[in-house]
Amino acid sequence: MTRVAVIGGDGIGPEVVGATMSILERMDLGLEFVETEMGLACFERTGEYLPSKTLRTLESCKALLFGAITSPVTFDPCYSSPLLQLRKHFDLYANIRPCFPILQEHKLVDLNAVIVRENTEGMYTCREREDDGTVILERVVSEKGCRRIVVKAIKVAKVMGFDKITCVHKANVLRRSDGLFRGVFYDVMRDSGLQADDMIVDAAAAALISKPKYFQCIVTLNLYGDILSDEAAALTGGLGMAPSANLGDNFGLFEPVHGSGLDIAGKNVANPSATILSACLMLEFLKKMDAASTLQSALVQTLTEGDRTRDLGGRLGTREFADKVAERLTRQ
Ligand code: NAI
Ligand code: MG
Repeated sequence: MTRVAVIGGDGIGPEVVGATMSILERMDLGLEFVETEMGLACFERTGEYLPSKTLRTLESCKALLFGAITSPVTFDPCYSSPLLQLRKHFDLYANIRPCFPILQEHKLVDLNAVIVRENTEGMYTCREREDDGTVILERVVSEKGCRRIVVKAIKVAKVMGFDKITCVHKANVLRRSDGLFRGVFYDVMRDSGLQADDMIVDAAAAALISKPKYFQCIVTLNLYGDILSDEAAALTGGLGMAPSANLGDNFGLFEPVHGSGLDIAGKNVANPSATILSACLMLEFLKKMDAASTLQSALVQTLTEGDRTRDLGGRLGTREFADKVAERLTRQ
């Protein structure tokens, strides 16, 4: 049986993952779920942010459903983000972030797009060194990294029925590194059968608001994709609604775009929709297409019929909202 790891993490992570699992456990998926741990609470308990036992469990699984972790506030030279470690360890080079509204009344603009973000290079190398009061970060952009993320974006765009990909970069300033990305983009796109264009990242941040219909599939580097995807989430229904898939060739990590929501943690108010939608992406990755569309339909029905959490103007708690989705599931 295919094994799937489950990590709640910190803050609202265990709440949104717990709610999602309460739904998945009521579905006949033929999957074995294995709970494991990482993050700040795990460190406080075990002395390790990402225990080797967790890594071994993950290596025995095909996918991970993950909530969020809290980053330590003070600088610790020994800290290395467990999430970034996992992205590196499993070479999860593509971060796919669909940006579409489910509830028309909660969208701010007409954005129906997907952001395909390079996930292992760019600013997120964590190679920082201090030299006489100056901190220097090594930023990495490789031809291989650019090529494979554009190839992935082409696949994603085609599956989602888009016919244009926009490369978002800062090649006007970062002329060699982002220039390489832009050059590789046009090279790989030549035989794709899709339209190709590009935009500078600051202009893209504005255009997401001023001309959202311009965008279909955006392919971009790590930091730009991280920032633009929170913006796109806010434009299409809020962070409680935005899912993501971190994909490598052999493993997938599925998580909401949001973090550990420390301001609302432990209150049973977080919206689990982003995590439920991430579980839908996971089911698709595991080729359980019918289950994915049944779960997504139940979620959409729940929301459109007015059962909602507080961020969407509703009154339901995290667990109660999940119960409503599970009820719809049995009606599908
Ligand atoms: P955040 O994404 O956790 O929260 C931003 C705002 O959105 C907060 O006001 C929060 O209440 C709201 N929000 C987030 N998720 C929500 C949900 N499901 N339902 C309703 N409202 C929701 O970002 P923040 O506050 O900047 O970061 C908190 C912690 O999370 C930090 O330690 C940060 O490093 C970490 N983080 C972790 C990530 C991960 O594990 N993948 C990603 C982003 C941040
Ligand atoms: Mg982020």
